[in-house]
Amino acid sequence: MSTQLAKVQELIDLRTEARLGGGQKAIDKQHERGKYTARERIAQLLDEGSFEELDMFVRHRCTNFGQEKKSYPGDGVVTGYGTIDGRLVYVFAQDFTVFGGSLSETMALKICKVMDMAMKMGAPVIGLNDSGGARIQEGINALAGYAEIFQRNIMASGVIPQISAILGPCAGGAVYSPALTDFTVMAKGISYMFLTGPKVVKTVTGEDVTQEALGGADVHSTKSGVAHFAAEDGEDAIRIVRKLFSYIPQNNLEEAPLVECTDPIDRLEDSLNEIIPESANKAYDMYEVIGAIVDNGEFLEVQRNYARNIIIGFARFNGQSVGIVANQPKYLAGVLDSNASRKAARFVRFCDAFNIPLVSLVDVPGFLPGTGQEYNGVILHGAKLLYAYGEATVPKVTVTLRKSYGGSHIVMSCKQLRGDMNYAWPSAEIAVMGGAGAVEVLYAKEAKAAEDPKAVLAEKEAEYNKLFCNPYNAAKYGYIDDVIEPRNTRFRIIRALQQLATKRVQNPAKKHGNIPL
Ligand code: HXC
Repeated sequence: MSTQLAKVQELIDLRTEARLGGGQKAIDKQHERGKYTARERIAQLLDEGSFEELDMFVRHRCTNFGQEKKSYPGDGVVTGYGTIDGRLVYVFAQDFTVFGGSLSETMALKICKVMDMAMKMGAPVIGLNDSGGARIQEGINALAGYAEIFQRNIMASGVIPQISAILGPCAGGAVYSPALTDFTVMAKGISYMFLTGPKVVKTVTGEDVTQEALGGADVHSTKSGVAHFAAEDGEDAIRIVRKLFSYIPQNNLEEAPLVECTDPIDRLEDSLNEIIPESANKAYDMYEVIGAIVDNGEFLEVQRNYARNIIIGFARFNGQSVGIVANQPKYLAGVLDSNASRKAARFVRFCDAFNIPLVSLVDVPGFLPGTGQEYNGVILHGAKLLYAYGEATVPKVTVTLRKSYGGSHIVMSCKQLRGDMNYAWPSAEIAVMGGAGAVEVLYAKEAKAAEDPKAVLAEKEAEYNKLFCNPYNAAKYGYIDDVIEPRNTRFRIIRALQQLATKRVQNPAKKHGNIPL
């Protein structure tokens, strides 16, 4: 064999060794845990044959605790770039087979390299997390590595989309990188996120809790709101990442991909003319409205099981990606509370940062009253949503289906918060408050003095409803641009979005605003 051929063979052997990560035994153990390896995950994520790996030969430099005798090519993370549906993405996948995917100084350098490249090229970063946290043997160097990653997460925020999939442990300060990214997908059964594990919890608070109950996918997708998606397993998590990616652009200067629309834009949906129940207190399902108006009924819901009184997610109108924010009358009557406000506010800001128009479907009776909410700071949380809508410069189309009362009317993308096109159905009730409550305030004395207080209140309520609980009073002032036939909602939204395609609005120059966090 010539010298050159021998060198080529050496390269091939080194690559083969590197592809084994922590070795076959560790790979088998990973599979036994019900988890895929980092390279298998990347293969699932990217278009076939598109992955270009970087830094395959990087090794750690630690000499503490005899670490110099234990090192693996690639050092616990597989990094590089490739494509999803032909679009460039940068990716890092922590390799649990090498020191439990724990973060070393060199591993952080590898991750930072792809993050820097993603920023330079204006392409998203997808992180596949599966790690025991800071590599304990490396001490402060591992912590410095985390901080370098966090700093890049922060600088990339609002410039390139960042998506995290949690496919194994993600504990301690390591959780902050996913938390700083735009979307977190957790795989049920194999992933967990917490600042301190069950043992520390037991020591500090005396509480007995399992990893799953402390920070599993169910907990974070229903109780804390940390996870945006709870996937059935690792493969499903990656499928969700790919789907999500299809709705979002490469960076803050580009638009989301336009998809060919096979659903007629002027499709009438007769069922919508009858979807609002006769009784104002009866619920209907907002998912039915969304399904009826978007392209092919396809809707990728975000945070489906968290704060279910508000629905957020991605859909398309005439092939154009939009963010939908909709009150859900079927859950807590669609009331706005702290969690719903925070959930929607963050989503509105994501869409605004990445040029995705917002379509808001309104049926909101107000903010949830009570000490629970007030002590929890509902004022600040509600203000977040108000701020997010008011600050957003993307096209904003609002359709009021039924209730839109008081402060919640303002918060839900009203005209004065620079709503571009504000439509209402004939069933809309746009008022300071509902009729029953209003007459209690206005006619309490009169009713008390009357022979039949109930009759007085009923008469006044009917008067109030006639005057205010309709869309025409708001339309009279131009606060509603048009009252539309429900069955024609799809077409009217598409027309509005087409018109708004060239919208240009700029907020005043400033370092940054001070959103009430
Ligand atoms: C070095 C680690 C490691 C770590 C795991 N390993 N975590 N090596 N540093 N942090 C190694 C293990 O020694 C083992 O090596 C291999 O990875 C696989 O780990 P197992 O324990 O066999 O796997 P499993 O039973 O699945 O348990 C996984 C685990 C557990 C729950 C993650 O390993 C664990 O509790 N690790 C420590 C977690 C932790 O406390 N991390 C530091 C948190 S502090 P061998 O050679 O035996 O195969 C932190 C601060 C960050 O992260 C702050 C950022 C701001």
